[in-house]
Amino acid sequence: MGHINKPEHKGLTICIMLFLSLSAMSQALITNTLNRQTFSLNGTWNYIIDPYETGYYNYRYEPYDQLKQKNNSAFYNNYHSDDRSELVEYDFDKSPALRVPGDWNSQDDKLLYYEGTIWYRRNFDYTPADASNRLFIYFGAVNYRAEVYLNGIKLGTHKGGFTPFNFEVTGIVKPKNNYLVVKVDNRRGREEVPTINTDWWNYGGITRDVLLIEEPSAFIRDYCLQLKQGSAEVISGYVILDNVVREEKVTLSIPELNIKKELTVTAGGRAEFEFKVKNVIYWSPGSPKLYNVKISTGYQTLEDQIGFRTITTSGPDILLNGKPVFLKGISIHEENPLRRGRAVNEADALLLLTWAKELGCNYVRLAHYPHNEHIVRMADKIGMMVWEEIPVYWTIDFTNEMTLQNARNQLTEAITRDRNRASIIIWSVANETPPSYERNRFLINLADLARTLDDTRLVSAALEKHFRDGINIVDDEMGNHLDIVAFNQYTGWYGGSLEDAPDSKWAISFNKPVVISEFGGGALQGLHGTINERWTEEYQEYLYEQNLAMIEKIPNIRGTSPWILADFRSPKRLLPGVQDGWNRKGVISDNGIRKKAFFTLKKFYEKIDRKYE
Ligand code: GCU
Repeated sequence: MGHINKPEHKGLTICIMLFLSLSAMSQALITNTLNRQTFSLNGTWNYIIDPYETGYYNYRYEPYDQLKQKNNSAFYNNYHSDDRSELVEYDFDKSPALRVPGDWNSQDDKLLYYEGTIWYRRNFDYTPADASNRLFIYFGAVNYRAEVYLNGIKLGTHKGGFTPFNFEVTGIVKPKNNYLVVKVDNRRGREEVPTINTDWWNYGGITRDVLLIEEPSAFIRDYCLQLKQGSAEVISGYVILDNVVREEKVTLSIPELNIKKELTVTAGGRAEFEFKVKNVIYWSPGSPKLYNVKISTGYQTLEDQIGFRTITTSGPDILLNGKPVFLKGISIHEENPLRRGRAVNEADALLLLTWAKELGCNYVRLAHYPHNEHIVRMADKIGMMVWEEIPVYWTIDFTNEMTLQNARNQLTEAITRDRNRASIIIWSVANETPPSYERNRFLINLADLARTLDDTRLVSAALEKHFRDGINIVDDEMGNHLDIVAFNQYTGWYGGSLEDAPDSKWAISFNKPVVISEFGGGALQGLHGTINERWTEEYQEYLYEQNLAMIEKIPNIRGTSPWILADFRSPKRLLPGVQDGWNRKGVISDNGIRKKAFFTLKKFYEKIDRKYE
């Protein structure tokens, strides 16, 4: 969540800062930005590489934005001077440009491995449609740490590379020559989320959309509209108006369902509701029905496209709209391998989900962090169930309170953004974390938070199995706190015999749905040989055949999301001529070519339907 730092300017700006600090402190996320009146700040931004943070700290390592006097060495002042005797050691106008949204690593070879600070600057003119309106700057995500300034005024900071945040900028935006400056620092940290070690590229930058949002003084900031937990005939939820000073009337309508409700929002800004609905066409991958929902106040009407479905479990079954379903999935990183770098827009989302549809998937695991809003809305539209995850990955600092707060913030921002998306059926709180008392306490805290924020979806995490006396065992204590027991297993890649795989023995300690959240192996597309030669397509194909034959027999198996749809960049994958900085476990290569294992998985999914109908 963005928070504001202390004001440092004199006079008028102080009162703006005080107003901002009050509103920004209590500032919460504005949702459904894609359907709002916004002015895009996407495009080319000038940038300055600043590995020593020269634009942020003076030579005594004091942050300029916490010093009393204004200092023209601070890059956020975007200072120019015609006085040729004056010392100014930076100039955005003469600096190169980066594309926003987009990671910096894939835009310039010099930045491929860069980890540190880059300053971004965007100039813009803006005149509000109505002078009494309020203005906000919204970021879809910045990886990893953002310090945001507008016209030299610090708006605040945000930490976490995969969730949105916004700051109010009413009274700071001028009609001409606004300069928005963002200090982005993607350095990894032991106490961060994710921690210092991950098997994916640390793409830095303003990696998602940047919008200027104009809203009336009291505006619809957030709302939730879903089938009530345990019901297929009752819709419940709430509407939140920002800056309500007296009771306000709100109309909620779903024209296709003949629903029109008058709500009263109290001075606290919130109205809750629930009402019966009839003749709903339930959302499902085969019938991704979305209803147009309208929320109106005296000053604005906001629309959204929302699907209604139930997702529950019963013993080993996952029930979608009351019917057992098998999750025919694939794991996906947020990368467009064809263009290189982070997937950022609707076209990238359609590319990845079309590949998944071609595989015969009805489900995707968006690993290992919340992906951009375009892909979850695309999943709603084309019919794809989604596992959404926060990057509590591997050896997180589970004893650190700040780390827990960071993870809680990221989970809250993800759920706040996406809780109206029917496609999302699972919130995942972790991936392959080492069992311990502290880790269980940490993950139970997150699972409880997920259920508090949204009791209509399932909660899971990618656990691990262990092997003893010839038996594969899944008895992780966290299984007691999850709705779905998901785990990663790499038979035939990180050990275990492929030949014996179909006859493996399993002991899973929970009578709950079991999902294999990862299995797989690497292959360099176009490298061919025998099934015993690692890195050949034949090896990967045989690995899929044997693992799938094994998986089908695992007790309570109700889904799988093999690792992974497409080859993706990783600094850990260094075998020359085979990996070259790419994790090659994709069933599609980084050039979009399907490997032999793609067709093995596709065939399995065609067959599996019949078994679970
Ligand atoms: C792990 C991990 C992935 C990683 C994969 C691999 O299971 O969850 O993030 O990329 O294995 O080793 O390729």
